[in-house]
Amino acid sequence: MKKKLKIAVLPGDGIGPEVMREVYKIIEVIKIKSKIDLQIKEYDIGGIAIEKWGQALPKNTLKGCEKSHAILLGSVGGPKWDSLPAHKRPEVASLLKIRKHFKLFANLRHSFLHPKLYKLSPLKKKISNKGFDILCVRELTSGIYFGKPSIEIQKKNKHYALDTTIYHKHEIERIAHIAFQESLKRKCEVVSVDKSNVLNTSKLWKKTVEEVAKKYPKVNLSHLYFDNAIMQIIKNPNLFDVILCPNLIGDVISDECGILTGSIGMLASASLNEKKFGLYEPAGGTAPDLQGKNIANPIAQILSFSLLLKHSFQLYEISEKINLSIQKTLLKGYKTLDISNGNKFITTNQMGDEITKSLIKEYNK
Ligand code: IPM
Ligand code: MN
Repeated sequence: MKKKLKIAVLPGDGIGPEVMREVYKIIEVIKIKSKIDLQIKEYDIGGIAIEKWGQALPKNTLKGCEKSHAILLGSVGGPKWDSLPAHKRPEVASLLKIRKHFKLFANLRHSFLHPKLYKLSPLKKKISNKGFDILCVRELTSGIYFGKPSIEIQKKNKHYALDTTIYHKHEIERIAHIAFQESLKRKCEVVSVDKSNVLNTSKLWKKTVEEVAKKYPKVNLSHLYFDNAIMQIIKNPNLFDVILCPNLIGDVISDECGILTGSIGMLASASLNEKKFGLYEPAGGTAPDLQGKNIANPIAQILSFSLLLKHSFQLYEISEKINLSIQKTLLKGYKTLDISNGNKFITTNQMGDEITKSLIKEYNK
């Protein structure tokens, strides 16, 4: 038996706890079949932590994460906390804080559509039946999300709000290196997205990415303006390989790529730091309207766990087995509500069970 691999699990709010339960089924199979000592410990984060501990990211949670080898997160936030001031909302007070605390600057969001699953996609058949496989590399700890000042000011005759976009050259360099390195494992194509026809931060972004590209002669680099990029992705997603983006642009583009697979309930993400310590989370959010109904899609959460095994524990084969089990379950026609197109669908639990069965089959091959 290998050494203990400790995972801090932070189910959070909304559908987080429900979809996390389906991951536990997968973990049980892996522990038995691969004889790996995966140790899971749950901690509170987000709205639930505000209720229980008075803060969205309690010290105990941070300490638990620090003692672990990787973090698996559900999602945070919900209508109950929407009226709080911005800096106290779960999204900012826990999610952005934990990303910053662990310096998780590299966010990898992988969206792919198997050509045979084209019906899941909202795209026209002639586009979606080609399939696509896009890795969005999003800068995660800088840009407008973290620039200071960020404030609303109300004076006698003035009322305005202000956010600051700031990018240091070294922040652009390190995320560009990640994009180029990831592209070497794929098709060696990087498209960098910016708004350098308007913004100074984007001009520096573009120039710096071009400099870093010189170290990767095998990789083909091109640039697109943000507005054009979102159009090109919808028209021809199969032409893209790695898309490199600043924080806010990456937030939008990764969601766009996610929905093209059929549902953001299938979009997983890995957020890594220089030491490759990682936090793994679905990109779809808490989906409060689905909460407690056993209808949410657990695939993004299971895929996030698969990414954890790959990036944090280098368990490539097991990660691939999970990905295959998901793909085969979908190919058999099992669908949750979000991808059912108004047709028959199965519950969150049933989807978890089907993927678990499929995983056991992968092991017994
Ligand atoms: C995401 C989310 C977050 C973000 C929110 C919840 C702060 O949309 O992970 O994409 O904007 O980064
Ligand atoms: Mn987002």
